[in-house]
Amino acid sequence: FPGHAGRGLAFGAIDPQPVDVDALVVPEGYTWDPIIRWGDPILPGARTFDPDNQTPEQQAKQFGYNCDYLDILPFDAGAYTRGTRGLLVSNHEYTNAAVMFPPTAKYWETDAAGNVTTKKNAYARAIERAAHGMAVVEVRRPAPGKPWSYQRISPVNRRIDMDTEFVIDGPAAGSDLLKTTADPTGTRVLGTMNNCAGGTTPWGTVLSGEENFNGYFVRAGANPTADARYGIAATTSYGWEADDPRFGGGAGYENEANRFGWIVELDPHDPSAPPVKHTAMGRFKHEGANVTLSRRGHAVAYMGDDQAFDYVYKFVSSRRVAPGYSQWARAHNKTLLSEGDLYVAKFTGDSPAAEIDGSGAVPSDGAFDGSGEWLPLVVGGASKVAGMSVEEVLVYTRLAADKVGATKMDRPEDVEISPVTGRIYVACTNNSGRTPTNTVEGPTEPNPRNRKVVGGATVNGNRDGHVVEIIPSGDQTSTRFTWNLLLVAGDPAVEGTYFSGYPRERVSPISCPDNLAFDAEGNLWISTDGQPSSSSIAKCDGLFKVPVVGPERGHVQQFLSVPAGAETCGPIIDSRDGMVYVNVQHPGEDGTYAAPQSFFPDYVADGATPEAGDFRGPRPTVVQVYRTR
Ligand code: FEO
Ligand code: CA
Ligand code: CA
Ligand code: CA
Repeated sequence: FPGHAGRGLAFGAIDPQPVDVDALVVPEGYTWDPIIRWGDPILPGARTFDPDNQTPEQQAKQFGYNCDYLDILPFDAGAYTRGTRGLLVSNHEYTNAAVMFPPTAKYWETDAAGNVTTKKNAYARAIERAAHGMAVVEVRRPAPGKPWSYQRISPVNRRIDMDTEFVIDGPAAGSDLLKTTADPTGTRVLGTMNNCAGGTTPWGTVLSGEENFNGYFVRAGANPTADARYGIAATTSYGWEADDPRFGGGAGYENEANRFGWIVELDPHDPSAPPVKHTAMGRFKHEGANVTLSRRGHAVAYMGDDQAFDYVYKFVSSRRVAPGYSQWARAHNKTLLSEGDLYVAKFTGDSPAAEIDGSGAVPSDGAFDGSGEWLPLVVGGASKVAGMSVEEVLVYTRLAADKVGATKMDRPEDVEISPVTGRIYVACTNNSGRTPTNTVEGPTEPNPRNRKVVGGATVNGNRDGHVVEIIPSGDQTSTRFTWNLLLVAGDPAVEGTYFSGYPRERVSPISCPDNLAFDAEGNLWISTDGQPSSSSIAKCDGLFKVPVVGPERGHVQQFLSVPAGAETCGPIIDSRDGMVYVNVQHPGEDGTYAAPQSFFPDYVADGATPEAGDFRGPRPTVVQVYRTR
């Protein structure tokens, strides 16, 4: 490669940033640029972004809101490097109406006196549905290591939103549990929502997790126990049931919510291919899914269910991967996630329960560690859960996992496989419910903290989260493993944190780990969500590097910090090109359209009129970080 390629990503850790710092801060020697922002036009007919005059039709042709999972794939399927032409794929998790829409009657209902209220109208809700989903956008750059720009017109550019038709496949496709009046076959569904993290498969497709789908549906009454277990309530936070009966849980739509909560597979190389929802991988609040290959070529996917006291899952494909990227191989590999075995994790600690006192103090054997097993839910096409059919296990996966005695975790988010060692890392982001007085469960060795002393005061809950390391006993298809905690997060200056024995005084404070990524050297990178408010360190969210092997294991170093109100998502670490990419999600989420909390990334000067395409308020944005020297 010409230019900066191959120089790696050496950096000096940045200082943690106070919560009101409205800047993207990167290390010395690096700078950043947006690649694409909410509202940027990507399809024919899209005009320059005009936030004062947003329409559903325009939003459907623009980059969506709240970018989360991110990857930049080589433009040519099978190419080894990103080169100078790529396919940027992003999730659009959710919307924030108060920040998106001007306080006018065009977007908000008015009261009897004609005053604008804080209740969205149907027009705003239609824009919301168009702002959800995913995007595929072609990007180009002059050379590796140099910044990309997105292509406003490209035959591969694509938006997936609540109107896009999906295929439902796998063992539960066509099940009575998935049928509605609009789809009596139980095999087709419109839309995807709350797409959080994801993963790129070895065969070049992108997986996307449908996470907090419960907030969009009114509880139907067909299966109240299951609906309650999934958090589907009598009212929704979006109000879309006023526009479309499928969100209302009424007659004919009792099963509509069952058609969400899946892993989605999108082939960005084939703009005409419908995206697929894979029932074989189970239904829960999917953070994402990451795939590796077993020695014999089975696809092995690891997945987290992001809820306090929920579980970690593994899927093993029945079929084996076909090598190469021929048309035949690609078509075959796109069937791998349609059939296979589903497991849920059980972690057992090896220290006496009395030594796990909830404070985060390391037990006397020097480690939070133990053994574990993958408990079968579906194996060889048969249910392994008493009293539940295969279809029931896959649609009501949480209930199945409850029955077999899986280990309750502190909100498992991303589960990522080291490309160097094959070890698996689980980000447990936090659990405000694991407190000394809660009724669900006390501290356990894999989730050892239910309180912490901060500045002499006891703070209840695992507010800062931790990262679990899983070591498969043999191949990735093995049902046995050992495990330990890589780190117990928080402010290293106070007790109740652990960094694999690395000296506390030399690590960056870190809290609420969410998305995980590896660089080519096998270092883990962690992005955070919740540091400003949920955690005990009260700093802006960021991106952190931590080596996982050798003497530097546990040495957390902060690489960047995101602007006020934002979380850091979808990191890509390209140490070959010396570049890092992050999705800056929900900047300024605590502000309003009229009174922004953040001005990222356009930073229109106070009193100035925004230039065409810019916005005075905050915009979720894909950011690239590259070297200045
Ligand atoms: Fe959408 Fe689990 O974070
Ligand atoms: Ca132990
Ligand atoms: Ca997440
Ligand atoms: Ca999160």
